[in-house]
Amino acid sequence: MPLIDVAEIPIRDQVREHYAEHARSLSKGNAASCCGSNSSCCTTEQTIPTHALTTLRDNKAIPNEIVQMSLGCGTPLELAELQAGETVLDLGSGGGLDCFFAARLVGETGHVIGVDMTPDMLKLANENKVKVGLQNVEFRHGYLEALPVDDASVDVIISNCVINLSADKDAVFREAYRVLKPTGRVAFSDIVARQALPQGLQQDMEAWSACVSGAIPRDDYSAKMERAGFKNIAVVGEPQPDDLIYSAKFQATK
Ligand SMILES: C[S@@+](CC[C@H](N)C(=O)[O-])C[C@H]1O[C@@H](n2cnc3c(N)ncnc32)[C@H](O)[C@@H]1O
Repeated sequence: MPLIDVAEIPIRDQVREHYAEHARSLSKGNAASCCGSNSSCCTTEQTIPTHALTTLRDNKAIPNEIVQMSLGCGTPLELAELQAGETVLDLGSGGGLDCFFAARLVGETGHVIGVDMTPDMLKLANENKVKVGLQNVEFRHGYLEALPVDDASVDVIISNCVINLSADKDAVFREAYRVLKPTGRVAFSDIVARQALPQGLQQDMEAWSACVSGAIPRDDYSAKMERAGFKNIAVVGEPQPDDLIYSAKFQATK
């Protein structure tokens, strides 16, 4: 078998292999072990909860074993203010947790689409869908940089700890803008960097998959969103004194 030079494997392929391992481990019942040893994913940091989401959590609307599969770094749904009947898209849906909460919030007249590039994650999400018994959620295989979603078809886009993993964030924001309805809005939780990370760290693929090396400063992140066309961009989140990277939340409209 030929030896593969990992430096030549595109970032996306390495990230996919990383999350395929996570998915296989989670489907065996192992606890979410976050994204890696340096990871900032899976923080329990929360914003002020909206009433509807708190009620869903308190009523244990989603089984605990699925709640514990979260690989996120925040709670984008706290910002999304979902309404009954809305169509929601989750970028990098993983095991599907945010999709299931969203599906409960938009109700039977609403619809939720989770997109993920990792087949093992899609398999896990579909197994979880059977466990929660929701009909108004579907999972599609695809890339954030080329979404398998129609133009102007989505009311709300959420994403939890995923966009940092893309090497082409401009394409991700362009695609998000394309699929959003003219009245649409976005709510992202993501890892950002206090300042541009050193080149050496950016080439560390293990740290990239662990949501570290792909992080960019929050102002750069907002500027990319603005270049894609987003308006009313609001960011919440500040680093602690020793943080190289930290979790922030972004909201915007089309
Ligand atoms: C850190 S996990 C977060 C999963 C989920 N949002 C959560 O909160 O549990 C990142 C997920 O994004 C997916 N992903 C990463 N980069 C992607 C890309 N460019 N296109 C599609 N999916 C991607 C991975 O397969 C993985 O399932």
